[in-house]
Amino acid sequence: MTHHRGKETKNLGVLILAAGEGTRMESSLPKVLHQVGGRPMLFYTLRLANALKPQAIGVVVGHEADRVKAAVDGMVKECGVNRPVQFIHQKKALGSGNAVLESVPFLKRFKTVVVLCGDTPLLTYESIYALVHSHEGQKGQVTLLTARLANPKGYGRIVRSPLGEVQRIVEESVGSPRELTINEINSGAYCFELDALMQGLKEIGQKGPKKEHFLTDILEIIRARGGKVNAYVSQVPEEVLGVNSRIQLAAAERITNRRMLERLMLSGVTILDPHSTHVDADVEIGQDSVIYPSTILRGKTKIGRMCRIGPFTYMYDAQIGNECEIRISQLDTCRVLEKSQIGPFSNIRPESVIGPRARVGNFTEIKASRVGFGTKVNHLSYIGDAEIYEDVNIGAGTITCNYDGKAKHKTTIGAKAFVGSNVNLIAPVKIGRGAKIAAGSTVTEDVPDQALAIARARQVNKT
Ligand code: UD1
Ligand code: CA
Repeated sequence: MTHHRGKETKNLGVLILAAGEGTRMESSLPKVLHQVGGRPMLFYTLRLANALKPQAIGVVVGHEADRVKAAVDGMVKECGVNRPVQFIHQKKALGSGNAVLESVPFLKRFKTVVVLCGDTPLLTYESIYALVHSHEGQKGQVTLLTARLANPKGYGRIVRSPLGEVQRIVEESVGSPRELTINEINSGAYCFELDALMQGLKEIGQKGPKKEHFLTDILEIIRARGGKVNAYVSQVPEEVLGVNSRIQLAAAERITNRRMLERLMLSGVTILDPHSTHVDADVEIGQDSVIYPSTILRGKTKIGRMCRIGPFTYMYDAQIGNECEIRISQLDTCRVLEKSQIGPFSNIRPESVIGPRARVGNFTEIKASRVGFGTKVNHLSYIGDAEIYEDVNIGAGTITCNYDGKAKHKTTIGAKAFVGSNVNLIAPVKIGRGAKIAAGSTVTEDVPDQALAIARARQVNKT
């Protein structure tokens, strides 16, 4: 087997175990669909499998199989997984050994098989590539990815002979106190020669109260048949973190976030306080942008160059152009074009497009609206279903009354219009180019270009 970048790796199959219940998560959501960095955990394993360029990827499903399959189909479409993906149904959750046994019909066509767990989202391509490479080099029947951990609790421990050969894996549940002091652990990622795997699988016995087949028992079986077991020790031990509980989920999230922030900082983004900044794995930020503390950037948020973002800002799927300034605000599924300023305390809701050079100020909510070039909505406004052209000034407290209790209606405001403070625009309504609306007006009829509309009761002073 040889590996070439860009080409399929001949005779290699990857199997991802994702059928377990994930009981310790205490959740109605299958464990492998819990999110890390804004993506289901399983996404990372799938991406890793794909990066090895195998002939095919098998995903073992069982618990909530339909839900997991639908999620995998989505990931395949969305994330450029280009290797064929096949599902294998594990009828009963009888352990990792049984999951692989059920996959034999899928595995038969390969010569070498990489087995990965769907709950180890932090594994790096470098290590899995090195695992496969070292497997090839050492000509053994199986090679495991192991790691030395300061706290090995919960993982299978690697028992080595005095000469350092890997003998077997002892699971936490059955290890003796002495065995449990071993700090080298099994990551759950393996590279097998198919022949040894097939023969060994048949001999794995049942263990524990649930009568499970432990895949890890296969090492002793392979050795008893004269096979050779090797290990590749991870250079980045944190990558082996297996997520069985929400405590480990939080640990995985923290590491993913740190990796992401480091990648951004190395690419020229200033992050003042990495500890209070949270960035999902798909977020992009341009060079020389500065991220102030307590900022959360989620989903597919994209930020241009030389922006100042935060503090206290939340974005989800937002697209921000170059040189924007966004402070203490929330932006959801919207676009802010270059040199615009948002905040403090602005709420920009889906389908809004703002700028370039626009200004949305404090306590202003924008929903499904276009706010044009150079336009200002500086204070205390609600703008919904509106199209506002360039260089418009919207006075403080202006409200588009877009909802009549049944349907939403549109407001259009022409270029260079001036809307005074505290104006109600009863939609549907059109304000012409260069029109002026007197403060306090409630506008119910269209206003022609350049006209001045006054729509309020005349003041009467009585004594
Ligand atoms: C497993 C390993 C352990 C290793 C650890 C690394 C075994 C027996 N133990 O323990 O040595 O240190 O991973 O994180 O393998 N699964 C199925 N079908 C099943 C049972 C499990 O597909 O019937 C899948 C799960 O979805 C999961 C993976 O196998 O992705 C591992 O199962 P899990 O129960 O998490 O094993 P651990 O106890 O973590
Ligand atoms: Ca696990």
